[in-house]
Amino acid sequence: MGNGIAHVFAQKGFVVNLVDTQSHQLDKALTTIAANLDRQIAKGTLAEDEKKKVLASIIPFSDLAAGVQKAELVVEAATENTDLKLKIFRQLDELAPAGCILASNTSSISITRIASATRRPQSVIGLHFMNPVPVMKLVEIINGYATDKAVTRQLVELSVQLGKTPCVVNDYPGFIANRILMPMLNEAIYSLYEGVAGVQEIDTVMKLGMAHPMGPLQLADFIGLDVCHSILRVLQDGFGNPKYAPCPLLTNMVVAGRLGIKSGEGFYVYTPGNKDLVASKRFQQ
Ligand SMILES: NC(=O)c1ccc[n+]([C@@H]2O[C@H](COP(=O)([O-])OP(=O)(O)OC[C@H]3O[C@@H](n4cnc5c(N)ncnc54)[C@H](O)[C@@H]3O)[C@@H](O)[C@H]2O)c1
Repeated sequence: MGNGIAHVFAQKGFVVNLVDTQSHQLDKALTTIAANLDRQIAKGTLAEDEKKKVLASIIPFSDLAAGVQKAELVVEAATENTDLKLKIFRQLDELAPAGCILASNTSSISITRIASATRRPQSVIGLHFMNPVPVMKLVEIINGYATDKAVTRQLVELSVQLGKTPCVVNDYPGFIANRILMPMLNEAIYSLYEGVAGVQEIDTVMKLGMAHPMGPLQLADFIGLDVCHSILRVLQDGFGNPKYAPCPLLTNMVVAGRLGIKSGEGFYVYTPGNKDLVASKRFQQ
């Protein structure tokens, strides 16, 4: 997600300091951005000479302090883990300039909770981009309990400037996007777990029957099964309702390291250079 967010900001003329604690992830992000820019050039949506400019305005940092010391806006997109986000926001509060807005791309973790790790909760907000960021139009903007209305207005304007459509929502578990999406993905996984239908059948029913561009199992692989699992746990804990509990099959897959596209296998197998959707051997009937 971080590489996609850096890409859209840089393409609209912002200077982006891209921070990751793992330097190999920074290299991977820059390679991904270059490949995505090439795709835009091939489609005719980006001029050839823009690529260099966009890449030149993304500066990689492995040191958070150096990356944020002059920032006007920080968009945090680290791993979906509450303790990690709280730690990062405590650091950002120390390291970023006083007027800097601190936004999180979290899919589900409470913005109010994240804000409480700082001494500037009025400047903390959710800025939830969808995957893939350069393609998807929506930005879900999440007001924490104390978010200043002026900060929300600023991010609504910024989202429009980025070519996105902002939707402002309030801070309850899963916000809107994942409160509605994740139970559907979990139900698709339950249908597979209970043997109601196979991987291809479940995805085909939803693609052709509901005109979804991707089936729910393919979408779960695309999002990352670990991310889906942790969002469902946030919904379950946040509402205190067992209906959101992750399907045991999803839990097993995450424990086994079958995380979807990012690990090379989830409900489908992903082989470089092969675009065919092939169900994982585990689910072939
Ligand atoms: N995957 C999706 O489809 C999707 C969609 C919308 C929002 N999100 C949200 O975006 C965020 C990132 O998701 P992702 O799928 O890209 O996660 P990911 O786990 O694939 O990548 C997270 C990156 O954060 C880096 N990181 C970890 N700790 C860090 C730290 N302390 N400082 C800087 N970098 C650190 C990791 O090295 C890694 O490169 C999550 O909050 C997730 O919920 C994900």
